[in-house]
This record gives sequence, structure tokens and C-alpha cells, in this order.
Amino acid sequence: MDVIETRIDKQSAEYRENYAHNEALVARLNEALRQAHGDRSEKALARQREQGKLSVQERLDLLLDPQTPFLEIAPLAAYDLYDKKVHAAGIVAGIGVVEGREVLVHANDPLIKGGTIYPLGVKKGLRIQTICLENRLPVINLVDSGGAYLPLQSEIFPDLDDGGRIFYNQALISKMGIPQICGVMGLCTAGAAYIPAMSDEVVHVKGTGAIFLGGPPLVLAATGEEVTADELGGANVHCRQSGVSDYFAEDDAHCIEIIRQIVKNLPPVSKPEIGQRVARPPLYDPQELYGIVPQRINTPYEVREVIARLVDGSEFLEFKALFGPTLVCGWAHIHGFPVGLLGNNGVLFSDSALKATQFIQLCDKRGIPLLFLQNIAGYIIGKEYERIGITKDGHKMVNAVATATVPKFTVIIGASFGAGNYGMCGRAYGPRFLWMWPGAQIGVMGGEQAADVLITVKNEQLAREGQPPLPEEMVAQIRGPIIASALKEGNAYYSTANLWDDGILDPAKTRDVLGLAISAALNGPLRSDRYGYGTFRM
Ligand code: COA
Repeated sequence: MDVIETRIDKQSAEYRENYAHNEALVARLNEALRQAHGDRSEKALARQREQGKLSVQERLDLLLDPQTPFLEIAPLAAYDLYDKKVHAAGIVAGIGVVEGREVLVHANDPLIKGGTIYPLGVKKGLRIQTICLENRLPVINLVDSGGAYLPLQSEIFPDLDDGGRIFYNQALISKMGIPQICGVMGLCTAGAAYIPAMSDEVVHVKGTGAIFLGGPPLVLAATGEEVTADELGGANVHCRQSGVSDYFAEDDAHCIEIIRQIVKNLPPVSKPEIGQRVARPPLYDPQELYGIVPQRINTPYEVREVIARLVDGSEFLEFKALFGPTLVCGWAHIHGFPVGLLGNNGVLFSDSALKATQFIQLCDKRGIPLLFLQNIAGYIIGKEYERIGITKDGHKMVNAVATATVPKFTVIIGASFGAGNYGMCGRAYGPRFLWMWPGAQIGVMGGEQAADVLITVKNEQLAREGQPPLPEEMVAQIRGPIIASALKEGNAYYSTANLWDDGILDPAKTRDVLGLAISAALNGPLRSDRYGYGTFRM
């Protein structure tokens, strides 16, 4: 297999400056993650100690097999939103290993507003269920929640993809035979009561765990009946009388132990055979990516240098290397798993779009997962290219990406603009997972271009009315806010806060995350659907 030869000069000023810049971006990311994991109010911590409950982290430490990785999903959801304290949208979620089995974990964090569910908490819950459905991963719900965050109830309740959809999905997941196990580790109030109710098996903690449709305050207000949480929906009520719960746990640690036993008893999963090899590290240190990724989003850089630091042995069999050079396609392995890789090296032209279409079909027919490395300003525009048929060739690529049935994975390593986002498997194109690098940006177009478009439109309008073009100071007044909002809303942190991605990745850890994700994806069928394509416009 061909080995990618690096052309990077590690002694150059450019490398050293890029390195310092990206190292600072990763330090900021690690600080944001540290806060998301650890920043809890003293009041909430005191309440937890009083109740004798374990923290979410302690629950996870007991649940997951020692020395196994945990691939956290959307750890910076709701970043900087609400009161800037609803870390991870109030939910810790990810893929981990329990009794040797890959599972999805979804745990409410009671230290954040009583574990109540914010609008982005609903979105995160639905994202976790999508991952479950696509990859057939068993789900473990550790519920400890006051239900809907009431001040924002109108944003949580009524619509198609609001709270009710979570229970609807639980019914579908059950129908598909994907195990759903629930630990009742605190209150499961109102909406949250349906999480255990719709699960296959429920483990209920004595004393602190309770399930009810209306809590004691609501019961008092509605019926005048005075009752404690334990009398209303505690472990004794639901394990001995109602039958809502299936296993009685003495405390949090016992609950987790029972859940581990349930997982141990699940029938084994048989993963599809895709030609896995023994994993080998790349020839070049992935940390060198810090020196390679430029400081500015519009500075072009060589995607083969990225590929060389992601794939086993830095070995890459490039497909059509001399044709459509602005898109690099080829075969490699990551942690032993075969992948078909597509990475941008400039804007997409007709030839690069056609090459992508052919390559995607090949991978799909051979059952090889697809990995997209997005750094794309868009498809080429202009009179000449419209005549050649860029729109129709772009359509073929978008069509092939949308309908490919093998698992797809996307990492946004730079720009993600316009239809380029679609062709390179943006969120709407169903990648099993999608991540961003810390300096990446996403949007319909860059702020500068958006400002130019709006100013041109305005000047054309003025010309039609026989008026002179906008004066310089008006142009500046229009440009400033557009560029500022594109920078803010196109930023990786804004994206991850809103769950447009599954997290921001340290470039140096991307290879390991991809390995875990591909392994998790193979819990599901290799093909999501019947193989076939729509009509390609010729
Ligand atoms: N909506 C908004 N905020 C809520 C809330 C809800 N449903 N439930 C609790 N909170 C807030 C509290 O106001 C408090 O906020 P603060 O830290 O700013 O003071 C925080 O969550 C913790 O609540 P607290 O009661 O102090 O903690 P606790 O550990 O003793 O109990 C609950 C947590 C969730 C069990 C308890 O607050 C409760 O029963 N809440 C009402 C649940 C309910 O009826 N929900 C119906 C939703 S459909």
C-alpha cells in the first residue's frame, strides 16, 4: 500500500505559529470540558450529600468496565446558553463498554436544576436515540430528573420533535428488540416517569428513587392528599405493588451492579465482517496536526497531511489521483477498520464531484464505511461552470451521499459552507456521527461573502430606483453586524451548543474517536437500507 510522504517542515515559522495557535484552541476546549464536567453549585452538591446519592461521574465509574474508553456525545451541548450553567444540556451521554458490550448511556445530572429537561436536553435525548436506532446500541438510562424545565415548557412539549417523541422512540426501539434498561436513581417526575415506564427493565433505588406522574406538590394542590415521594412512587410501591419496576436496589451502587448483570445476560451481538486488520499507528504523530492546520479558515492546506496522521501506517491507496484534484479520495484503515476517505483540497468542480460520486458507489457496493473530511467553501460558481453543468454534477454527488447505505462519518476540519456541507455529508445527510475541530466554521457562506451579496443586492435595488450606490459608511454599517454574526453563529462552539454536531474534537484525538465510532457503528447492520440510488441527472 502507498505511504503518504509528508512535506511538512517542522522547523518552519509557519508550523511553529500554527502549532501555538492550535494548542491554544485545544487548551480552551479542555477548559470548557473541565467546566462542563465539574462546575456545580455548592448548594446542589450539599443537597446531593444530604440525599446520599452518587454523582453522575461516580455512577459512570461504577457502570463502565475499568480501563475502557467512554466516547462522550455532545459534552458541550448548551454551551454558553441559558444561564451558562446548564452544562452538557443537563445530560451526560456517550458510548461506553459494560461487561464487554458497547452500550449507550444517558444520565440526567441532578446537580443541574434538579436534572430537569431543557429544550436542548430534549434535542440531546433525541440525538442519543437516533444513535441507538442507527447503530442498534442498547441504551442505559440513569434517570434522576424533575421532568420538564417548567419556565421553558412551550419549547419542550408540543411539537413533532419535542419531549413526546422520546417516548414514541422508546416504543420503536423496544419493537426493534434493542434493549433499554433504566436505573431509577432519583425522581422520575411527570414526563421523566415515562422513561422507566417505556423501558424493558427497570432497576429502582430504595429511598431516593421514585416514579410518579404528579409529584407530592402537585398531588397536594390537585387532591389535597399529603404524601411523601417515597409513599407515592418509591421502590417498595413499584417493585411490590404496581409492578412498574422490576429490580429492587438498596442504593446507587447496588442499582448499577444489577444493571451490569442485566447487560451481561443480553444475547451476544454479532458484528458484520468488513475485513478488519490489526491496528497500527500512523507513521506521523497525530499531534503534528497542530502545526499543519492554518490559523485562518480561508488559508488552503493539504488534506493528505491530515490523512497521513489519521490512518494506520499512514497508508493510503489514492483513487483517481490525477483527476478532479480538489477532492482527495482513497482507501485506508483506521484502528484496523477499512474506510473510504474523501477529503477536500479546494472547491468542488464538476470533475471532483463526479469522482466523489463514483467513489461513494464503489465503497457502498463493497460495504466499506465512508469518512468525509470537510474543508469546503462550496461548489465552483460562474458562467463557464454552469455551462459545463456544475449544478447537475454536484447533484450526483449529493444524491450518492444521501443514498449511500454504509455507515458514514464526518469530521469538519476547516470550512463547511453552502452546498459543500451537503455534498461532504453534513448533518442532514445522515452521517452516523459528525464532529468539528476547534477552529472549524459552518454556515451558508462566510460572513464576508454574505455581506458582499447583501450590499450588491441593495445597490442593484438603488440603481433600479435611479439612486446612487450606498455610501462607504453605510456599507461598513451593513458589513459589520453580518460578519460578526456569521463568525459567532458559524463558530464550532455555537454549533456544538446547538447539537449540530456530536462534539468538538482535539485534532490529535480524532483518530481514536473515529476508531471507537466505527466499532460502535458495527453493532448495527452494515447497510441501513436496501442498496440502490435515485436517478442521476446525466
Ligand atoms: N422546572 C424548573 N426548575 C425546577 C424544576 C422544574 N420542573 N424542578 C426543580 N427545579 C429547580 C429548583 O427551583 C432549584 O433551582 P435553584 O437551584 O435555582 O434553587 C433546582 O431545580 C433544584 O431543586 P431542589 O428542589 O432544590 O432540589 P432537590 O434535589 O431537593 O429536588 C426535584 C429536585 C427535581 C426532585 C424537585 O425540585 C422537584 O420535585 N421538582 C418539581 C418536579 C415537577 O413537579 N416537575 C413537573 C415537570 S412536568
